[in-house]
Amino acid sequence: MTRHFLTIADTGDRDLETIYRLAVAPVDDTLLAGQGVALVFERPSLRTRASSSTAVHELGGFATFFSDEEIGLGHRESVDDVGRTLSEMYSLVGARVREHRTLERWREVVGDRLGVINLLSDLAHPTQAIADLLTLADEFAEGSVAGLAGRTVAYVGDATNVTRSVAVALRRAGVHVRVGAPAGYQLSSGGGEDPSDPNLGGSLELVDNPVDAVRGADAVYTDAWVSMGLEAETDQRRRDLGPFAVTAEVMSHAATHAVVMHCLPAHRGDEITDEVLDSAASRVWRQVYHRRSAMVGVLRWMKGEK
Ligand code: CP
Ligand code: NVA
Repeated sequence: MTRHFLTIADTGDRDLETIYRLAVAPVDDTLLAGQGVALVFERPSLRTRASSSTAVHELGGFATFFSDEEIGLGHRESVDDVGRTLSEMYSLVGARVREHRTLERWREVVGDRLGVINLLSDLAHPTQAIADLLTLADEFAEGSVAGLAGRTVAYVGDATNVTRSVAVALRRAGVHVRVGAPAGYQLSSGGGEDPSDPNLGGSLELVDNPVDAVRGADAVYTDAWVSMGLEAETDQRRRDLGPFAVTAEVMSHAATHAVVMHCLPAHRGDEITDEVLDSAASRVWRQVYHRRSAMVGVLRWMKGEK
């Protein structure tokens, strides 16, 4: 059976546990020897492309990068035909797509012979969430994701694709999640990566100001105000989200031991100040470090390692 990794919500509890464990277990195998992984990016990337390429190499495989311009998904060629072509030459595709539906199409059309990994869609960023849970586990639970149960993590700003995947992963680990966002930028329920699902565990509280979100929290997370593809809304978003910047004043309401997280790229001076991003509480470079761990874990799980 070919495995796929499209959302955290789609991934079973046992599978998530396996991914977390394999992410940090010493790499003593070449599970991908002789196998290719197609990396398709419809949008820019630094961390995701770097971590995917290095993890594939580390497991003995080879990665081929395809840019949006080369492939022209849906205009030079249909989404289905791109999937069919890749499935003839690669065993896995990791893709950053404008529309989550592209990943679902590939899973439907060639999913029996091409494993599909979501490297960020409009809906979700599940490999980021794996890295973030590993980062928090290092910080608060000696590396045990299960040991995070009962902690509180606040998210402040625009509730994005990253927010959805991180919130689902946190709740699955029994964490209390508070999201502080203005009207129009708050999490909506439903969809394929739904942090409001009552069956997730932990809890989810939505509030409309940053101080209520971060009060007493163990970690404070933020992401860009202008996600890729929304550049035309930049001025409006800056105005609406301005009061939700993660500043030293906002951080002063979190627990004294609170850490700061950001998936990066950061827009210093918008969603987060230099002072906070570069503070001793910042764990953003540990998150970057774990992007590679997360990809190793996902790839090993995709190839059936137990
Ligand atoms: N966090 C993240 O996905 O970074 P990139 O967009 O640089 O890949
Ligand atoms: N929410 C951001 C995340 C970037 C890693 C975006 O979609 O652009």
